[in-house]
Amino acid sequence: MLIQLIYVSSAKQELSDAELDKILESSSHHNAGQQVTGMLLYSFGNFMQVLEGPAEAVDAAYNRICADPRHHHIFLLSREEISERHFEKWHMGFHRVTRLDADAHPAFAPLFANGFNAEQLGAKAGQAMELLTLFRDNN
Ligand SMILES: Cc1cc2nc3c(=O)[nH]c(=O)nc-3n(C[C@H](O)[C@H](O)[C@H](O)COP(=O)(O)O)c2cc1C
Repeated sequence: MLIQLIYVSSAKQELSDAELDKILESSSHHNAGQQVTGMLLYSFGNFMQVLEGPAEAVDAAYNRICADPRHHHIFLLSREEISERHFEKWHMGFHRVTRLDADAHPAFAPLFANGFNAEQLGAKAGQAMELLTLFRDNN
């Protein structure tokens, strides 16, 4: 069974590009071996990540991620069965959100411009996926 899982979290401290690179390198490496694909967004100290793959592999990755001391306040937005992958291009795609993204997508800006707004993202089903798709297609 293929599942898709989406969460948001807060970095314990602002992360440098080098620190983000390290997370990405380790993520891509692990995910490649487990048929897990997805994308990670970083916006002003917040993460939003989507993971897709076999349920066991995705749940195992998520459990490791939850135990990672580099972030906290992890909030699961969705975990559902899917019939096909939406991020098959990447074992872990990445985008660092900037002010330019907010300027380019004013309608979505309240969801991400000052870090990810978990409450708003969780309030409407499908909204998190809409935002992720936007960044996927602009990447
Ligand atoms: C925001 C964030 C996202 C992460 N995403 C993944 C991921 O997609 N897959 C994964 O295996 N590890 C991910 N990690 C890393 C794990 O938490 C953990 O550090 C890693 O799997 C441990 O492997 P290592 O000791 O070989 O680095 C992520 C960590 C953070 C902070």
